[in-house]
Amino acid sequence: PSSVGILACELYIPALYVEQSKLETHENVSKGKNTIGLGQQRMSICSDHEDICSLCLTVLSRLLDETGVHPQQIGRLDVGTETLIDKAKSIKTVLMQLFVDHDNTAVEGVDNVNACYGGTAAIFNAIHWIESSFWDGRYAVVVMGDIAIYPKGNARPTGGAGACALLIGPNAPVVFESGCRATHMAHVYDFYKPNFTSLYPVVDGQLSIQSVISALDTCYTQFCTKSQMNHESHSHTHTTTLTSREVNLSTFAAVLFHTPYCKLAQKSLARLYLNDLIRACPYIPNNISEKYKNFDLRTTINDKELEREMVEQSRELYEQKTLPGLYFAQNMGNMYTPSVYYSLFAFLISQPTEEQLYGRRILLFSYGSGLASSMYSVVCRKVHECRFTLAQLQRSILRAKLRLDHERMEVTPDIMDKILLEREQTQHKVPFTPKQPNEMLKSGDMYLKSIDDSYRRYYDKF
Ligand code: ACO
Repeated sequence: PSSVGILACELYIPALYVEQSKLETHENVSKGKNTIGLGQQRMSICSDHEDICSLCLTVLSRLLDETGVHPQQIGRLDVGTETLIDKAKSIKTVLMQLFVDHDNTAVEGVDNVNACYGGTAAIFNAIHWIESSFWDGRYAVVVMGDIAIYPKGNARPTGGAGACALLIGPNAPVVFESGCRATHMAHVYDFYKPNFTSLYPVVDGQLSIQSVISALDTCYTQFCTKSQMNHESHSHTHTTTLTSREVNLSTFAAVLFHTPYCKLAQKSLARLYLNDLIRACPYIPNNISEKYKNFDLRTTINDKELEREMVEQSRELYEQKTLPGLYFAQNMGNMYTPSVYYSLFAFLISQPTEEQLYGRRILLFSYGSGLASSMYSVVCRKVHECRFTLAQLQRSILRAKLRLDHERMEVTPDIMDKILLEREQTQHKVPFTPKQPNEMLKSGDMYLKSIDDSYRRYYDKF
């Protein structure tokens, strides 16, 4: 199989949100702290009929309905999440409810867990299955989602929620480029969830930011070196002489990051620009890069002044290559596992027609605390003899954007606090029946109907 990638997608947009500007007043922080300091406009909130399974069931069930793919045509289903509701039973097994009536239990894959990285691990698994000797010719599906919530305090405005389902297969309009992928993994306590009775993570915010930045440095250096090596070995075996194939920011139409809040995505782009400056990449005039050529990346992680300088110098690159991918993140917040994929979705609809996407390469950086991180690239292409096109992907994403722009309901920060407090108080209480959610549900949404006294969860389709 060749050109393995994303054939179709379905996005979840929670019905409720809170305005970040109102949260600033409510939390008694200075005006602009969340909206300018973090770069966030709105934050998605989940109500009591939404849990991680209802989010995942909704996107998977919609993906099947919208694409017309029969459940029997799916041979692998991988889930990525860090919103755990069970220490043994995977969410994947809950999703098998959608297959049982269609007589298909032969579906490989289970859950992938490591903070925000699980979705990427799930995608890598799906791709590897299709490229392996065990592939039976059927599609793979990846479902990832999270409900990101924090206790009262400075981390709370960096919450959010989201989920998506991706149909993965060969001859795709968005292809994971083969041969080059960079990974950096390490043991760090930056963000973790050791307390099984708490809904909330333990966070060392500043350490998490430093860890993201140093993971970026390592992955980008590795990615650039590997790309160059692949190119060199490639050009030895082929007679075509290609000019320099150095990879740098100018190689990509978009550069997208794990986005806990939009300001960090801007700082991430600025950091990659610093990497390019130090390497004196050809797209940067010599008189600018000269000053930086002896900089040691490792000693600059906490240099705020340099960071501001890089943000200024890379502003235009940021506006071209990163900002178009931030629409969902700005308006929904951190979605954990699907975060970088929502950036990909936003970028895909930032171009009015599919033709404008043909041949364009996108660099992606996925980060999960603890930590696991990878950098890889996708390329958009015109497909031949395949019913899944870029235009169709754009239509699915635009449907979600319509819902985001016009069908959500604002709640006050007071109501948000109440929803979160209730979630804290009821998280282990059984039996449990959520309040009647009718006014928030759209046709096709799957929601939590009840939890019985043996902790078994029941879902229904609206
Ligand atoms: N107007 C404009 N900007 C402001 C204002 C204001 N009124 N007030 C503050 N700011 C700026 C600050 O100067 C700072 O800017 P800088 O980042 O350029 O230095 C920014 O707003 C953030 O303010 P801080 O006081 O530095 O940080 P805060 O205490 O709000 O914490 C943090 C931010 C660490 C991100 C916190 O929200 C958190 O812990 N979140 C969860 C962890 C997280 O998301 N980590 C990221 C990667 S790991 C993951 O995805 C979970």
